[in-house]
Amino acid sequence: ERVVKAGLLGLGTVGSGVYKLVEHQKDEMAMKAGAGLKIQKILVHNMNKKREGVDQSLLTDKWEDIINDDEIEIVIEVMGGIEPARTMILEALHAGKNVVTANKDLVATHGHELLEAAEERGVDFLFEAAVAGAIPIIRPLKQCLAANEIQEVIGIVNGTTNFILTRMIEEGMDFDDALALATELGYAEADPTADIEGLDAGRKVAIMASIAFHSRVTFDDVYTEGITKITAKDVEYAEEFGDVIKLLGVAHNTEGGIEVAVHPMMIPKEHPLASVRDSFNAVFVHSDAADDTMFYGRGAGELPTASAIMGDVIDVIRDIQYHCTGRISCTCYRETPIKNFKE
Ligand code: NAP
Ligand code: HSE
Repeated sequence: ERVVKAGLLGLGTVGSGVYKLVEHQKDEMAMKAGAGLKIQKILVHNMNKKREGVDQSLLTDKWEDIINDDEIEIVIEVMGGIEPARTMILEALHAGKNVVTANKDLVATHGHELLEAAEERGVDFLFEAAVAGAIPIIRPLKQCLAANEIQEVIGIVNGTTNFILTRMIEEGMDFDDALALATELGYAEADPTADIEGLDAGRKVAIMASIAFHSRVTFDDVYTEGITKITAKDVEYAEEFGDVIKLLGVAHNTEGGIEVAVHPMMIPKEHPLASVRDSFNAVFVHSDAADDTMFYGRGAGELPTASAIMGDVIDVIRDIQYHCTGRISCTCYRETPIKNFKE
């Protein structure tokens, strides 16, 4: 059986989730992807940190151990930030390695450059985990809705702020306490200013707009306003009107041009987005043929984000094995008994 080797960059919240899923899926991987997967090396910043349940011999703090390893065919980047992630990803792509990332900061600012590098070398650069955690949204926009003219993408795309607002609304929790809890649960960015000021949601809106509207929208194009000015009084005021406050990301493809923004909004309690609680996200897409579609799920956290990463990794392995990611393979199935209710 063929085993594809991967280099993991980062072993924080998301990296640990990826490591756990790979361990958990070890025996099933070949059935699902057509080949096994082995994490060959893990790049970390601090070699002295205690990391329970991880094979210590895989750890390195030297990028050379990954980029110069010809056996490594997939680089999974979950370090975050622009540099050194950008340089490493470019070097990996130029070296003919496929790359999977959750790094929305990078994709929202340098996505075009990275996609171009991947295309030049004929390798994959995938980033489903960069937007809305576990929710499949990049692929639906890029592939499943490809026959449509997409007019509007609107949603709750930041788990941390949705968690904070939920706790403020439902429990009267203090803003700072709710943020501390979101950080403890692994939802917040390394610098949570990106969450609470709407920057993280802005990056996700830029990525979704670029793909949905076949355009090049970068983070700089997005108007962003976060939730730091929302007070307990605002929450009460919204309640009086039968509304809740949500941080919404909005992308419209209008005749006059593309409009992209992130800002808090009061929405009626009956609206489907009002019931999206805690770290859950939801994205509405309006398009000409499919009409309205909605995507919902966990928008942040260790395993939900790792789930999206691993979906991309499995696609890359299928690509390596069969030169095709989209095809549903007739060889990848398990002999499971099927209950017969007809008798
Ligand atoms: P994190 O917990 O802060 O982990 C970052 C990891 O990267 C750590 O293991 C750190 O090493 C390593 N690292 C950072 N800079 C490095 C460098 N220069 N060289 C080597 N290693 C380095 O971050 P995270 O929450 O997992 O997020 C990772 C990425 O996923 C970010 O792009 C984030 O935006 C994205 N993301 C996160 C979530 C989420 O729910 N957390 C969801 C979707 C996407 P040490 O362990 O040695 O410090
Ligand atoms: N900090 C991000 C959030 C992680 O809270 O949504 C998921 O992208």
